Amino acid sequence: MATVAINQEAERTITFYRSAVGKKVVMAVTGFLLFGFIVMHLIGNLLIYLPKDSNGQWPIDVYAAQLHAIPELLWSARIILLVAVILHIVAAWQLSVLNKLEARKQGYVRWTPVASSYASRTMVWSGPIILLYVIYHLLDLTFGAFNPGFEFGQVHRNIVASFTRPPVAAFYIIANLCLAFHLYHGLWSMCQSVGIAHPRYTPVLKMASKVIAVAIGIGFCSIPLAVVSGLVR
Ligand code: HEM
Repeated sequence: MATVAINQEAERTITFYRSAVGKKVVMAVTGFLLFGFIVMHLIGNLLIYLPKDSNGQWPIDVYAAQLHAIPELLWSARIILLVAVILHIVAAWQLSVLNKLEARKQGYVRWTPVASSYASRTMVWSGPIILLYVIYHLLDLTFGAFNPGFEFGQVHRNIVASFTRPPVAAFYIIANLCLAFHLYHGLWSMCQSVGIAHPRYTPVLKMASKVIAVAIGIGFCSIPLAVVSGLVR
């Protein structure tokens, strides 16, 4: 009896996922998780602006050590994030295939970007750029493979060592601007996908998405700029 109920539930979930709405909901939920990580990561990274504490340690190093202190928790969060990234990418790719099929069915001859904003059209390339950026970023600041001055656990030192190379700092700034664009459209789409949409609230939600995306972009971009300008050393 219980097995039948589980099978029916699984079938319903699969049928829902097969629909465009199902894929959009998966994108919204995974996007929300990734957004949560980005906000927490930004708050943690802004600790780089604090001076050394009374023990002579950089607050950002102390914070990183605390995050690494419980490996079970750290790895659980990493696995959840990785699954969210994979689902987000797969659903995005499947949705774009569905959209193309739909467009071909309607057989329009001329592409007119009437309802799509600049940010929504940039989703197609900002997503892959962010993915490549995260891969580089892990090799740079988590594993140290691309960072000659890397020392495990010395987060402040590793960030400064990385961003004192102007081309790397420029790359981080460009990638984080792409992230801001991606977030602007992503946050707004997320609200629509989970049904938080009403013509009356549309301007407010769009403005809130823009403000959050710009704040996150400025927050992340400020770090390479602060290192290059010598404010953080
Ligand atoms: C200038 C901006 C950024 C700085 C300075 C920065 C800094 C860092 C540092 C120092 C680490 C290693 C932390 C540790 O080993 O304890 C790290 C890890 C990481 N960062 Fe960033 N980050 C930035 C932006 C981003 C962005 C925009 C994303 C996502 C789109 C991101 C995703 C990650 C991920 C996934 C990890 C691995 C976390 C883990 O250890 O599980 N970072 N970052």
